[in-house]
Amino acid sequence: MLRTPGAVRDAERWTAHNYHPLPVVVSCAEGAWLTDVDGRRYLDCLAGYSALNFGHRHPKLIEAAHAQLDRLTLTSRAFIHDQFADFCKELAELCGKDLVLPMNTGAEAVETGIKVARKWGYQVKGVTPGQANIVVAEGNFHGRTTTIVSFSTDEDARADFGPYTPGFTVVPYGDLDALAAAIDENTVAVLLEPIQGEQGVVVPPEGYLPGVRRVCTEQNVLFIADEIQSGLGRTGATFACEHEGVVPDMYLLGKALGGGIVPVSAVAANADVLGVLKPGQHGSTFGGNPLACAVATEVVRLLATGEFQRRSAELGERLHGGLQALVGKGLVAVRGRGLWAGLDIDPALMTGRQACERLMERGVLAKDTHGSTIRLAPPLVITEEEIDHAVAQLAAILAA
Ligand SMILES: Cc1ncc(COP(=O)(O)O)c(C=O)c1O
Repeated sequence: MLRTPGAVRDAERWTAHNYHPLPVVVSCAEGAWLTDVDGRRYLDCLAGYSALNFGHRHPKLIEAAHAQLDRLTLTSRAFIHDQFADFCKELAELCGKDLVLPMNTGAEAVETGIKVARKWGYQVKGVTPGQANIVVAEGNFHGRTTTIVSFSTDEDARADFGPYTPGFTVVPYGDLDALAAAIDENTVAVLLEPIQGEQGVVVPPEGYLPGVRRVCTEQNVLFIADEIQSGLGRTGATFACEHEGVVPDMYLLGKALGGGIVPVSAVAANADVLGVLKPGQHGSTFGGNPLACAVATEVVRLLATGEFQRRSAELGERLHGGLQALVGKGLVAVRGRGLWAGLDIDPALMTGRQACERLMERGVLAKDTHGSTIRLAPPLVITEEEIDHAVAQLAAILAA
């Protein structure tokens, strides 16, 4: 008897329905492949929304986690532990920044960035007390806290969670004039995803990110790049900003930083920015814990080899080539960079959800977003043959 139906029923019975998962019950995984409780195998084309950039259970990361589990797992930041300095140093060097502030989830990194930018605004820039504002983009996704959903433009994410945190100005994504016009003397930061992941892997027009960098520098405003989903190899570079030669004032990192093993996030910035925080002004019990640091240091070392960025760039060309060939054959549009793609399915054929269900039946797991869009973000360890397999399954469901 199959175990999946009962496991799906039990999960629905005992959890709040804040997700609508595909009816697949995973029990183990390795590399780019998942196996469910009934022994069926699936090619993972979501990779935990990029939290699994190095694949499931990468041997180096698992080894680092095991070794650390056997020695020390938690101290709190009340004490210093022996994994902390190496992690902060190596991540700071990867980012080309002076300092790192470790947290746990992506939303916490974003909250940290907002707090640091506000404090920098009052203490360094000299904005009017209580009046700091941050410019953000329409279609943004930065997490789920009450402050972050306050400036979401997605009604599902925002409605009925008010009262909302003030201090954010929303402008259209990709429109430099609108962004420049929104900046006033109390603007402390521009907070953007260099590619909007949840919105459907939306790449801004060429020149936009350098333009944002220029405007921020001219206006003495911090450019905060939320690279939580776009960063750490996903687009074929360490950071998506790199494709346009842009260096933000602050990187927000998460997801893949934890190697798919532990939640690890971080803010990286120079001392003139992160230095505004003093003891007692920000923190987290679990942020920068020994297990997190041990795994994340190994993540940074994997990235320092450049191998994963290269794979993403090269294999991404193959993926995008295969997907572009399906435009007009069931796909309306394909966007993205590296091993990251947003596909718009012809709505006359099926919804994004239906497409994901049909892919699942063919052993490929992906996730829909916003009606008729599917995101593909396979682990960067995926092979050419596996990419061709995923594209062939997509072609098959579009042709059916
Ligand atoms: C760009 C971006 N920022 C922030 C977050 C929030 O991360 P977390 O879910 O770890 O809080 C996400 C999650 O999808 C994201 O894509």
